[in-house]
Amino acid sequence: MPILTVKDLHVRVAGRPVLQGVDLELEPGQVHALMGPNGSGKSTLALALAGHPTYEVVRGQVLLDGQDLLSLPPHERARAGLFLAFQYPPEVEGVKLREFLRLACSVRGKGFCEFQKAFPQALARLNMEEFRDRELNLGFSGGEKKRAELMQLYLLRPRVALLDEPDSGVDVDALRLIAEVIAEMAQAGTAVLVITHYPRIFRYVPPARVFVLWQGKIAEQGGPELAWKIGEHGFEVVRR
Ligand SMILES: Nc1ncnc2c1ncn2[C@@H]1O[C@H](COP(=O)(O)OP(=O)(O)OP(=O)(O)O)[C@@H](O)[C@H]1O
Ligand SMILES: [Mg+2]
Repeated sequence: MPILTVKDLHVRVAGRPVLQGVDLELEPGQVHALMGPNGSGKSTLALALAGHPTYEVVRGQVLLDGQDLLSLPPHERARAGLFLAFQYPPEVEGVKLREFLRLACSVRGKGFCEFQKAFPQALARLNMEEFRDRELNLGFSGGEKKRAELMQLYLLRPRVALLDEPDSGVDVDALRLIAEVIAEMAQAGTAVLVITHYPRIFRYVPPARVFVLWQGKIAEQGGPELAWKIGEHGFEVVRR
């Protein structure tokens, strides 16, 4: 049974139709891949699911464990168990990473004592101990921001995780670490969608299903071999 079902989703951005009938299902405990050319609407899909007001849903349905997601404001989508790791994580001056995560954990039902234990563990898992007292993403390098997003995932244990290019700009060791954490989260039951351009991350965490976004729709889907084919031949494999 899928935990997230997207049916015939149409989304407009700045008056332009970007998604034109996306159908997608994510299964709990599995890693899924979303690939597609620059500008095909991968981030639009992730941001529209999270409830970003710029992305106007004009048609379609999204169910999270049977619950209508699109009628909920963004914070309630998060509370229902939807998590988004941004392609471009914003820098939030004046907000400590630690305080941000403490509050996020408290609305997900983790009390202070539990957080006091889980936060250092999450920092350690992502090799981020020295970021303990930093402000949220402020001055973080590109790769550090990606690791911080994964740290949030590790701590929050959502039901559905949309990871928008968790592999972009990260070094080889961080790539492996991020892939290992993604695999752990899936093993713990999270349905994960990895948005990416390159199949390299799938060497460490093979996806059960690969979706290709093309001209506003899921134009192709398949097993991990589809990601390797795209890596080798580009999106010609879909165009044909
Ligand atoms: N705020 C905005 N205003 C105008 N156009 C936008 C806005 N946000 C996105 N778009 C347009 O919507 C289209 C889809 O963008 P999106 O960021 O979803 O693509 P993507 O598949 O994530 O690309 P990439 O692989 O480069 O990250 C693009 O043509 C983009 O220029
Ligand atoms: Mg994008």
